[in-house]
Amino acid sequence: MPVDVENLSCVYAKGTSFETTALRDICLHIEDGEFVGFMGRTGCGKSTLIALIAGLVTPSTGRVLVDRKNINARNYDRAELRQKVGVVFQYPEYQLFETTVERDVGFSLRRFGRPKDETAAHVKKALELVGFDFEKVRALSPLGLSGGEKRRVAIAGVLAASPKLLILDEPVAGLDPLGRKEFLALLDRLNADGTTILMISHNADALAEHAKRIVALRDGEIVLDGPAQDVFADANVLRENSLGVCQTAALAGILRERGRDIGPVTKYDALIEALSERAATRK
Ligand SMILES: Nc1ncnc2c1ncn2[C@@H]1O[C@H](COP(=O)(O)OP(=O)(O)O)[C@@H](O)[C@H]1O
Ligand SMILES: [Mg+2]
Repeated sequence: MPVDVENLSCVYAKGTSFETTALRDICLHIEDGEFVGFMGRTGCGKSTLIALIAGLVTPSTGRVLVDRKNINARNYDRAELRQKVGVVFQYPEYQLFETTVERDVGFSLRRFGRPKDETAAHVKKALELVGFDFEKVRALSPLGLSGGEKRRVAIAGVLAASPKLLILDEPVAGLDPLGRKEFLALLDRLNADGTTILMISHNADALAEHAKRIVALRDGEIVLDGPAQDVFADANVLRENSLGVCQTAALAGILRERGRDIGPVTKYDALIEALSERAATRK
């Protein structure tokens, strides 16, 4: 499902002493099936941009088209947007409130008025997608689960509606390394199945491994937009824009400085490959 952001600006608290320009004249085209990572320092406008794409904030100027339809038009069917676009906010586990896991995950489907048996099947599938045994977990209170489990339940609630576009704001913050790895693998599977993914993260390593394209913001403007491999391969440009460097590219940079150039490497497997090749040719 393509997304077009056209000359979008967002000013909060306009005309008051708190007036803040969060975004200036943003243009962005996202193709169906992309996996885009958004990065940039706190306050640069990442959350505002995805809230605008999700139709949760109204632009000051410009417009957003989701599936070629202007979501800010007066006659736009917002129910359609809510069914097509899933949003996982920061710390989604704080939004759990139902008495059982099954009811919580089925909440939005019930609200959309889907039939009971269809809802039950989607809830089961969504819980299995995030790694739960449905029968074991369905009747538990979500509030009694561990932090990582709560987050998986919250995400299952978004996935149950089978969104075509999945937007995630810092989804791996606070997850332990294994939970993070499993969660990112889930995003890869969803993306491979055709879900368009937009993910904000401060974790440069996660973005380098999983996003195919990176959009970096600074003071409300886009400063970098390109394939993840290219963006992370240029550590100087990242530093100039106060952005994080991924560890694989940083290591390749250190080796280059020491006269052992292994080329631009941004993924862990590619790093291992390049180092093994070098070791083999030295024998
Ligand atoms: N609801 C709001 N009201 C007023 N200002 C806001 C609001 N939300 C964000 N801002 C301001 O807009 C700017 C961008 O914020 P945000 O989109 O949250 O950035 P990020 O997600 O990159 O940290 C910041 O200066 C922030 O203080
Ligand atoms: Mg934010």
